[in-house]
Amino acid sequence: MGSERIVLLSKREIEKMRRAGRAAAALLHYLEPHVKPGVTTAELDEIAESWTKERGYRSAPLGYHGFPKSICTSVNNVICHGIPNKKQVLKDGDIINIDVTPVVDGYHGDTSKTFFVGEPSAEARKLVEVTEKCLYQAIEEVKPGNRIGDLGAAIQECAEPQGFSVVRDFVGHGVSNVFHTAPQVPHFGTRGKGKRLRPGMVFTIEPMINEGSWEAKVLEDEWTAITVDGGLSAQFEHTVAVTPDGVEILTLYEGDDV
Ligand code: MF3
Ligand code: CO
Ligand code: CO
Repeated sequence: MGSERIVLLSKREIEKMRRAGRAAAALLHYLEPHVKPGVTTAELDEIAESWTKERGYRSAPLGYHGFPKSICTSVNNVICHGIPNKKQVLKDGDIINIDVTPVVDGYHGDTSKTFFVGEPSAEARKLVEVTEKCLYQAIEEVKPGNRIGDLGAAIQECAEPQGFSVVRDFVGHGVSNVFHTAPQVPHFGTRGKGKRLRPGMVFTIEPMINEGSWEAKVLEDEWTAITVDGGLSAQFEHTVAVTPDGVEILTLYEGDDV
């Protein structure tokens, strides 16, 4: 990933990405009421897999480089790639990122949100709200002629003045009929640096913001990435397309099932 050429999607392909993106958003919306104290992350995974299969779609994470489940569930100090587990029971005050990627007619809709389980602490609420704001500030930078570095700069400018840090080890990515492709989209950066954005580029922006240090380590299971200092981490993700006059968010929930 990263060194290959950035593919510009045709109108026809962007329409397919729109369908996949809408499905991803609808799935996240469907899961939301199930996120409450007492549910296990394995139950959330089963609900997501049933929803996906019932519609004739496929869950991209399942079997992806050996990932064992259909969604990622990243709780509290887990930065990303948390594996659903039947022993992991959500409790009041937890935060959980749920990351879904249904494949619809060969194309991937990749989106995630961090949810509150019951009532969050003031600090957890602030982290989650700032993280979502970081994503939208980055999306505002997406237009032809701007550069990839503008996105990361916007995220840093949003997170760091609040005393939070931006994870370096995981990036957004091009997404299409391929799950992860060029370009890489770092969530830190310098304005005016990096590849120029062009109409037809489709990629994710998925900032992971930590309460403490940005440093991550990966557990023995080779997937679960946690904060080195045990601090909380939050994440939000959208799949976006660069259009001739700006940006289209492909993974917005539009109030319908799909
Ligand atoms: N959906 C994640 C992303 O945003 C990737 C998950 S890969 C998996 O890129 F294998 F962990 F599922
Ligand atoms: Co994702
Ligand atoms: Co992604």
